[in-house]
Amino acid sequence: MDYTLLRTFHVATVHVTLVLFLLRGFWMATDSRLLRARWIRVVPHANDTLLLGSAIAMLLVADLNPLGQPWLLAKIAGLLAYIGLGTLALKRGRTKSLRIKALLAALGVFAYIVAVALTKQVIPGAA
Ligand code: HEM
Repeated sequence: MDYTLLRTFHVATVHVTLVLFLLRGFWMATDSRLLRARWIRVVPHANDTLLLGSAIAMLLVADLNPLGQPWLLAKIAGLLAYIGLGTLALKRGRTKSLRIKALLAALGVFAYIVAVALTKQVIPGAA
């Protein structure tokens, strides 16, 4: 499989993830019933599976071992934090205030993951 094509696909799913997360965050903040619509409980998960699938496919095609690449380990750690904070923001957070804080923290982690992807540095911008 072509690496560049996989990366393009990966980046496309990254955009879809962000749009769907912002949409669900807005619906959470406004107590909208749309948050519980059937499609919105299915489509983000399907997209996230493709996001992760394309990441794994790139690792295989480029013969990259994430354990030997600190920036990839940072992305995996970031992804786990993003999933945890996202679940807190959209589902598990007991109060609205906690859910909003988790939402903002999740967006911060998301920005960090993108910065790591672009710079391939654990601390983007560090010398
Ligand atoms: C929410 C999670 C993720 C986001 C937001 C994200 C974001 C991105 C972005 C924006 C790029 C494009 C970088 C460029 O244009 O140079 C990229 C590339 C890439 N990502 Fe992800 N990614 C995520 C998860 C992962 C995971 C979990 C892995 C695997 C451990 C991974 C592996 C890669 C690889 C191998 C590339 C290609 C790097 C290159 O060749 O330039 N990504 N990612």
